[in-house]
Amino acid sequence: MSEIKLTIANEDHLEFAEEICNMMERAAAQRGTGIAKRSPLYVSAKMMEGKAVIAISDNQPVGFCYIETWGHGKYVANSGLIVHPDFRNTGLAKRIKDEIFQLSRKKYPESKIFGITTSLAVMKINSDLGYRPTTFSELTTDEDFWKGCQSCKNYDILTRTNRAHCLCTGMIYDPARQTKSTSAKLTKEERWKRFTGFLKDGADRLKGKIKLKLNNQDPKNSNKLSWLTKVKLF
Ligand SMILES: CC(C)(COP(=O)(O)OP(=O)(O)OC[C@H]1O[C@@H](n2cnc3c(N)ncnc32)[C@H](O)[C@@H]1OP(=O)(O)O)[C@@H](O)C(=O)NCCC(=O)NCCS
Repeated sequence: MSEIKLTIANEDHLEFAEEICNMMERAAAQRGTGIAKRSPLYVSAKMMEGKAVIAISDNQPVGFCYIETWGHGKYVANSGLIVHPDFRNTGLAKRIKDEIFQLSRKKYPESKIFGITTSLAVMKINSDLGYRPTTFSELTTDEDFWKGCQSCKNYDILTRTNRAHCLCTGMIYDPARQTKSTSAKLTKEERWKRFTGFLKDGADRLKGKIKLKLNNQDPKNSNKLSWLTKVKLF
């Protein structure tokens, strides 16, 4: 495989905007989820503003991600992450996210950085960067952000729950809550432990919701839930 060059995108990369959008669209169709649709014009603007990271191999774009700000800059999202299928599972998404995260921290040191995703790979990367899972109520209330979900096929779930939850998991990095033990200093085992802890928390929250829902219908339902205690993740 040829060398992959990672860089902050600029005017020199405008010729790739359309191909990047095509890559995003193909991935959304394959996954069956509607990643918020982007236009080449929007992607071009991000390049010109110096708010995107691009990976190039053999003069072709093979990865991309950009910065969006919400709630008057109080919140930042690193959105539109895409890696070309031929370049996946080699750590490229992790490299791109590391780069865009550092850029976001530099440009917006006070902002909370958040994301919503169904991708386990992205949850793993975010968790390594110091994000923690959170409820949607802790994320931005900026209407324009949530409008981005309209092109997702699960949008009805989000509206039905009054934006309380959906199939995506919300994750947030709050600079005010960071301690000195940043991810960079954690060993691979420690990072894995943190990620599995995060998955377990998610499963526990889900079990709680199931119990609550069935008990609200009829307290006798608790008898039907003995299987819940037997569910094991690992
Ligand atoms: C999601 C995507 C960006 C991942 O790209 P990638 O380059 O293959 O990811 P990486 O190789 O950097 O993997 C990052 C980490 O996730 C893990 N991972 C990768 N795929 C995984 C999966 N399906 N389940 C669990 N973990 C996974 C890797 O093992 C790695 O962990 P490590 O650092 O401990 O080794 C890529 O598959 C893609 O472009 N998908 C389509 C678009 C998309 O879903 N974007 C995200 C929208 S939120």
